[in-house]
Amino acid sequence: MSNVSKPNVSKSNVSKSKTKIIINGEEHEIEEEESLLPLCEEEGIPFGCTEGVCGTCLITVHRGNECLNELTKAEKAFFSQGDSTPSGTHALTKERVERLACQCRCKCKGGVIEIED
Ligand code: FES
Repeated sequence: MSNVSKPNVSKSNVSKSKTKIIINGEEHEIEEEESLLPLCEEEGIPFGCTEGVCGTCLITVHRGNECLNELTKAEKAFFSQGDSTPSGTHALTKERVERLACQCRCKCKGGVIEIED
């Protein structure tokens, strides 16, 4: 018998560190703290100012909103110009939320985000 213990390493650690993101039907992977904008650009979602002012990068989140950062100050200001709720959030429904791609970062390790423009 050997007294050497094996390290407790899960083979699934690598796949759990990334989040699946579906943009206009195309699957990608995104890491925690990574901006959505480069992947959105890859899928043809236009952008302009990259500062949350112009609204060009408006997206609808169909799934996985809990894997995105909270609304930024810029988004709150942008959505408060329209028909947002008094709380400053802009939920269409609990499942579908509008966001500005240039302001969105992934905050999860694992899970699924689905968006479209
Ligand atoms: S690029 Fe202007 S708001 Fe996102």
